[in-house]
Amino acid sequence: TCVDCHMPYMRENGQKYTSHWMTNPLKTTEESCLKCHDESAETLKARVQTIGDNTFKLQRIAGKTVAQAHKTIKAAMDVGATDEQLEEPRQLVREAQWYWDWVAAENGMGFHNPDKIMRTLGLSIDKAHQCIEKTNAIMKGSL
Ligand code: HEC
Ligand code: HEC
Repeated sequence: TCVDCHMPYMRENGQKYTSHWMTNPLKTTEESCLKCHDESAETLKARVQTIGDNTFKLQRIAGKTVAQAHKTIKAAMDVGATDEQLEEPRQLVREAQWYWDWVAAENGMGFHNPDKIMRTLGLSIDKAHQCIEKTNAIMKGSL
């Protein structure tokens, strides 16, 4: 559970207590991770770093694509697209944004569940692209 990594057992002057620091467990890798893992702290940190780097890169791409989707809807509104026409694109950008928000708010930079985070960011990018495509098609028709 969360406490295994985030509230590990610590020792001070022979006293055993659980950490209430609630911070990045890599600050307490020995207490948080090495009670279960045989790998070295360096190896584990490198794995977490790789997962985090990959997540960060894809999160940036998703964020930029979602922002582009918002801007495309604004451009369509500026040339007179109606609420009715924009209903589907708006639903798509809402979903794209929601997937991105969820990953950003989850806060583990992919570590807690790398596969799920990658899938969620992939969905965000896909929904944002669909929004942009549909909105561009509306603009082409109405211009
Ligand atoms: C297997 C160990 C492990 C478990 C279990 C775990 N976490 Fe984490 N958590 C981590 C690691 C490692 C990071 C830091 C990831 C990084 O730096 O890229 C982290 C980061 C976080 C952060 C961001 C903290 C910060 O200061 O950066 C939050 C919030 C968080 N976890 C909440 C939770 C919650 C809530 C649970 C239980 C539902 C949970 N974690 C279970 C290992 C764990
Ligand atoms: C309660 C026991 C437990 C704790 C505590 C724990 N792990 Fe794990 N961890 C596991 C198990 C079990 C697996 C799955 C092993 C497998 O599939 O071979 C795993 C898998 C992993 C993996 C994926 C396997 C790999 O080599 O890529 C990483 C990375 C990892 N843990 C890092 C950490 C880090 C970092 C911490 C401390 C913040 C931590 N774990 C704390 C039990 C634990």
